[in-house]
Amino acid sequence: MSERVIVFDTTLRDGEQSPGASMNAAEKLRLARQLEKLAVDVIEAGFPASSPGDFESVKMIAQKVRNVGVAALARTSKDDIDQAWGAVCDAARPRIHVFVATSDIHLRHKLKMSREEVLKEAVEAVKYAKRFTNDVEFSTEDGTRSDRDFLCKVFEAVIEAGATTVNLPDTVGYTLPEEFYGLVRYVERYTPNIHKAIMSVHCHNDLGLATANTLAGLRAGARQAEVTINGIGERAGNTSLEEVAMALFTRKDLTGFTTGIRTSEIYPTSRLVSMITGIVVQPNKAVVGANAFAHEAGIHQDGVLKNPMTYEIMRPETVGLSSNKLVMGKHSGRHAFRKKLEQLGYEFKEEEFNRLFKKFKELADKRKELLDEDIEALIGEEVLRSNEEYQLVYLNVVSGTVAVPTATVKLKVKGEEKQGAGFGVGPIDAAFNTISKLVGSKAKLLRFTVNAITGGMDAQGEVTVRLQENGLVALGKGADPDIITASAKAYVNGLNRLEYLKRNPAFLAKDTVV
Ligand code: KIV
Ligand code: ZN
Repeated sequence: MSERVIVFDTTLRDGEQSPGASMNAAEKLRLARQLEKLAVDVIEAGFPASSPGDFESVKMIAQKVRNVGVAALARTSKDDIDQAWGAVCDAARPRIHVFVATSDIHLRHKLKMSREEVLKEAVEAVKYAKRFTNDVEFSTEDGTRSDRDFLCKVFEAVIEAGATTVNLPDTVGYTLPEEFYGLVRYVERYTPNIHKAIMSVHCHNDLGLATANTLAGLRAGARQAEVTINGIGERAGNTSLEEVAMALFTRKDLTGFTTGIRTSEIYPTSRLVSMITGIVVQPNKAVVGANAFAHEAGIHQDGVLKNPMTYEIMRPETVGLSSNKLVMGKHSGRHAFRKKLEQLGYEFKEEEFNRLFKKFKELADKRKELLDEDIEALIGEEVLRSNEEYQLVYLNVVSGTVAVPTATVKLKVKGEEKQGAGFGVGPIDAAFNTISKLVGSKAKLLRFTVNAITGGMDAQGEVTVRLQENGLVALGKGADPDIITASAKAYVNGLNRLEYLKRNPAFLAKDTVV
């Protein structure tokens, strides 16, 4: 008999707390729809009291994503809970998630409250949240560094007050699997009414043990795992959804657990998160890294060719990496291109599809064969397209060991063509300076990263930039076989997104990144 684990995805809330991972409302909705396709049980869509932008995006997700639960985070204050409810009230299955710290170190230095005061506040908050919905989750922040008996006392009291899920977070990623197993068992044993609620675990990865701790928590009796895609999150991140889902799937024989996760959506979801946040997945990352299914050693390659199971504990297709690769090139038509997008796990509206198809044809004209990664780079540009106030029409650069790097750029600025030239310390700097001059931007370049999408001399380069202007920060992406063109595209994309932000203050996320 297998037991079902509830997958609570917090990519949009805790994941968004990763340095530089903020997303705008449209991107959050796109990701929420993908999480729905992945079939998580609950999406924690945000922390509405943290900013008007977060409130708006949680509200939009609650209204539009109908097949999964939608949770909103709140501290124990009535105002936070009111805002959480205001944001999730339209959801098909709304949840209010209230938290307060329970460790002495947090009580003494952060909250300046006694244990009795925290207990009282926790109970009042849960009772207040219960007025709005039956589905109330309560978390004891810094749970793993809290006094065990106090933890049990808090859990007992909040369950009595109506909490239907109680969550034990390892907020600072401090615990070890054996210890966490023991703690969850202790809570299960010494919280008299624990059977009236679902026990949940929420681990951080500061010691690289988040997945191991989560699995230990499940083995000890928890039935909800709080996770994020690619493990993004505060500091070293949260437990990775893909690791927990695939560990349970692959070792069902040992754990006896199942989840509702549609595993073939794991890889497309991972790529989408990476594209939206600009956070690259390390190549050796379990399950979704570029090397996760690559075999380098001769003995391994020989074994895999004879039988994949010699060195593969799971099949790439199971996580959504297609082995049956439809090779795309300049002769591929609309039908094949649509099929390829489907294979990669993406759906686009007709207008978006047409734009993508045009870009695909342009790229296919330059290269013989396009790999999945090339097509994903095009999709990345499409996903990050906000408005097209500025369009790159033409770029020419002169550079070399003796020449002063010079760029000539033609841009469409609000429909009007503008041309100019400028210098820089290198060709990319020259292109950026010229673009800035043409649009009159004072944006500062905070980050510039280049990623070679595929191998080979004609590989596409994917560039990500982070731009800052007047306290606003925007991400820009561009891909092209020419790295300087890719950089210029990324820069223009970032400027467009800054403009979008200036005109749509409601979309401001808490640290104002779009
Ligand atoms: O890590 C943590 O303690 C949290 C809580 C808000 C659940 O994210
Ligand atoms: Zn957390």
